[in-house]
Formats: sequence, C-alpha cells, structure tokens
Amino acid sequence: MPFDADGHIIAGTVSSGLPVDTHIVRPPYVGLPHPPAYTGDNTYTEAEIEKIRAAGRIAAQALDAVGDAVRPGITTQELDRIAHEVVVGAGAYPSTLGYRGYPKSSCTSVNEVICHGIPDDTVLRDGDLVNVDVTAYLDGYHGDLNRTFRVGTVSEDAELLIQRTHEAMMRGIKAAMPGREVNIIGRVIETYAKRFGYGVVRDFTGHGVGAAFHTGLIIPHYDSAPLFGDVIKPGMVFTVEPMLTLGTHEWEMWEDNWTVVTKDRSLTAQFEHTIVVRENGAEILTLSD
Ligand code: MF3
Ligand code: CO
Ligand code: CO
Repeated sequence: MPFDADGHIIAGTVSSGLPVDTHIVRPPYVGLPHPPAYTGDNTYTEAEIEKIRAAGRIAAQALDAVGDAVRPGITTQELDRIAHEVVVGAGAYPSTLGYRGYPKSSCTSVNEVICHGIPDDTVLRDGDLVNVDVTAYLDGYHGDLNRTFRVGTVSEDAELLIQRTHEAMMRGIKAAMPGREVNIIGRVIETYAKRFGYGVVRDFTGHGVGAAFHTGLIIPHYDSAPLFGDVIKPGMVFTVEPMLTLGTHEWEMWEDNWTVVTKDRSLTAQFEHTIVVRENGAEILTLSD
C-alpha cells in the first residue's frame, strides 16, 4: 500500500533493476559498494563539455518521455521503465543503477519525499507531485537533471511551489559567474525562497559532475557563506538542484536508507540542471534539443 490513511506516502514494493545490454559501457562504480576516489578537478575542455552535453541531452530526452506519461494511475516504476528505455535506447547507462547499491534507473520522489525516492508500485493519484531525476553516462561522462511533474490537477499551493522552485533554480544558475564563490548560488536561491516562507533544504546539495557522478565539489542551495568558498571558474561543470518545501528544511530518512522525506511531511519540489560556466555566465548542458 503506497499511501497511509492520512494520504502520506509509505514504502511500496521495489522490483528488480532493469537489464542493460552488455554492449553499453558501465561507469566504474557499478558492482562496487562506493565509487573509486575522484582525483580530477571540476573544469573541462570543450571536447569534454560536448560529451557531458551529449549525456545530458539523453537524460533530458528521458525526462521529456516521462513527463508525457505522468498521469493519475501510473506507477513510479512504470515511469522508471520509460526513463530507462530512453537512456539505454540511446546507448547510454542510467547512472543511478548500481550507484552505491541504488537499485533503479531513476529517482521518483512523490509529495513530501525530498529526493532519492525509489521507483516502486506506488500508484500516482490526481493532485500528487512527482520529481523524476535521471542521470545518463555516455562515453565516460555523466549528465544529471530532474524536474517536478504535476499528476493531474494540483493545489494552488503546490502549483506555486513548483513554479517558484523552477525560478529558484534558474536564479541560482544565472548567479554562477566566474570570480564569485559558489556560495553566491545558495544565497540567491535562499533569498528568493524566503520571500514565500519556503524551507530550503541544506543537507542535499548540488555537486560537481562530469567525469564522475559526484566529484566532491559541493554547491549549497542556502546561504552558507563563508563556507563553500570555492571560486567559480570558466569551464567548471556542476549541478544546481534546489529542493524547496512548504514547511521545514529538516528531513528524515526511511529505513531503505535512500528515501528522504520532510520531517513535517510538508510538500517539496525540486528542479535540476547540469551547467558549464562561461566567461559571461552559465550555459545549461541538460537540454533535450
Ligand atoms: N541524481 C541525483 C543527484 O542529483 C543523485 C541520485 S543518486 C541515487 O545528485 F543513488 F540516489 F540515485
Ligand atoms: Co545531481
Ligand atoms: Co540528479
């Protein structure tokens, strides 16, 4: 049973991971308990950036297909299958599958689930929110993005949360200018979110991405200064992926050790893009066309 008597989401049954044809190259961490240490930096050549863009495009096309399928009555594991088939159909590997033991090709985070929800037999209902996060690995590079979708018709509070979370991400992306510290991004996001009294999740962050899924560079979405003072440079690649809530920023984790929910069970939304920093500002690498 995917929802309790109060309408709150509870764990469903997780089926086995979907197969990936052996000709598709796996990232190095698959089959290991955690990824090998990443020793590179967070800046890339133009040829590498084009590879991240190619991976990001596939992930974005997967989300386009997922978005077309979202409706009351569909399960999160059906959405996962759609994402999986687009990614492997393009010859890429779904980066989450086998990442630190994660069992699925996407994350599907419903209502009060902040992030890392595992696709299962949960049947989506009219009025639910579902965030789907897809990362594709192609030719040695990852591209990572997510979007929050409306299931049928959502409440006005939910609609505004979705729109403003997208706007918060875009403002964070526009703040990513060379010479600034990465903490400018969270300062801009938190300042905007506070106008509406929203919670800004602190403990799950943006990250360097490209040659590794998570490179070790952290991009907070709250005003963390003077912490996280890494200086933004041209050619840097990282994600911006704010999670905003209608209540607290505090969270709890389910016993599956993945699913993160708001402590007060308030609704939450998230959007994510992978960006590259240019001399005059950021360019998005996770577009579907
Ligand atoms: N794609 C997520 C992110 O934005 C990471 C998911 S890791 C998983 O960083 F193991 F939970 F899938
Ligand atoms: Co990410
Ligand atoms: Co992601």
